[in-house]
Amino acid sequence: MNKKIAVIKGDGIGPEIVTEAMKVLDRVAEIYGHTFEYDQLLMGGASIDVNGIPLTDETIERCKAADAVLMGSIGGDTNTSPWYKLPPERRPEAGLLKIRKSLGLFANLRPSVLYPQLAGACPLKEEISSRGFDMLIMRELTGGLYFGARKTEEIDGVMTAIDTLSYNENEIRRIAIKAFDVAMKRRKKVSSVDKANVLDSSRLWRKIINEVAKDYPEVTLEHVLVDNAAMQLVKDPAQFDVMVTENMFGDILSDEASMITGSIGMLASASMNETKFGLYEPSGGSAPDIAGQNKANPIATILSAAMMLRFSFDMSKEADAIENAINNVLDNGIRTGDIMSEGMTKVSCSGMGDAIAAAIK
Ligand code: IPM
Ligand code: MG
Repeated sequence: MNKKIAVIKGDGIGPEIVTEAMKVLDRVAEIYGHTFEYDQLLMGGASIDVNGIPLTDETIERCKAADAVLMGSIGGDTNTSPWYKLPPERRPEAGLLKIRKSLGLFANLRPSVLYPQLAGACPLKEEISSRGFDMLIMRELTGGLYFGARKTEEIDGVMTAIDTLSYNENEIRRIAIKAFDVAMKRRKKVSSVDKANVLDSSRLWRKIINEVAKDYPEVTLEHVLVDNAAMQLVKDPAQFDVMVTENMFGDILSDEASMITGSIGMLASASMNETKFGLYEPSGGSAPDIAGQNKANPIATILSAAMMLRFSFDMSKEADAIENAINNVLDNGIRTGDIMSEGMTKVSCSGMGDAIAAAIK
C-alpha cells in the first residue's frame, strides 16, 4: 500500500522521537512492501518561529490531504520560552487545540498499559502493580472547557476570569459510541467518569451514556465520579477497561494513568474523527529540559505509529510487528534513561529506535 503521512515533529524532544518513529515505519515499509510518503509540516513553537502563528491554514489543508498525521510534541518551557509572552491565541498550545478542532478529532484514545518488564518502574505498591493493568482512556477532545467561550475582565473593579463548560447531546453520544465500540473489542467494561453530583454538563453526560449503553447489552457500564476515579486509579487500576470522559477530566486522568505505568515516555495516543482518519502522538509533552540531548524515550511515538497503522491503514499485522519488536527489545533489557533500572543496558533515543527497527520481523 502507498500511504501519505503528514508529519509534525513539533518542539522540544518532538523532532528526536518522531525521527525514530519514521525509522521504524521505514523498516516496516521495507519488510511488508509498503510505501510511506512523508509531508513534513510545522506546528506549535516551530511554526511561530517561522510563520508567527502556531498553525497555518496551509498546514491544516496538507494534513487533510494526508491519510493520517504523525506528531511529536508541542510547546516549550512556559516560564522561560518567548512563545509564552505572546497572547494566548498565538501560543503553541493554541495550534494543537485548533488542529484537533479543524480536523474534527473528537475521540482521543489513550491506552495505559503496565508492561511486565517495567513493573519495577511503577510507583504503586507491589501488591497493586503485580496485578498489572491494561486500560484505555477515551477522552472527548473537541468540546467542554477547552473550547468554550472565555474572557478575563474587570467587573466592579475586580479582575474576573470566566471559562465555559458546555456539551450538547450529540457531542456526548458520538464519543459514547466510540467508547462502547472499543469496549466490545476488549474486556467489555465501560467506566464513565463525570461530576454528576455537581455539574449540569455531567448530568447530561450520564443520561446520554445510559441511553447509548442500551445498544450494548454485553457491556458492563459503571458511572464513577471524577474525584473517586482519581483515587481508584492508584488504588486498583486493574478494575478499569475503557474509561470514557469529557475533555478536561480526560486530560488530567490520562496523565495520572500514564504515571502509574512507570513512564509517560511509554504511552501512545490516537485522536480520531468519524472516519478512519487520525492524528497520532505520544501522550507526553515536549520535555524541553532534555530536548536535543538524544535522551528521550521514543517508544510512545513508535507505539503511536503502530496505532496509526492499525486504525487508519488497517495494517494490523504490521502494527503487531512493531508492538512485538518493542516487547522484544524490553525483554532484552534495552532501556532509555526514564525506564532504566539496575542490570539493564542504557541506550539513547536513537539507540532505542535502532534496536526496535532491527527487531521488526
Ligand atoms: C494533552 C495536553 C494538551 C491538552 C495541552 C498541551 C493543550 O495536555 O494533549 O493532554 O490539554 O489537551
Ligand atoms: Mg494533557
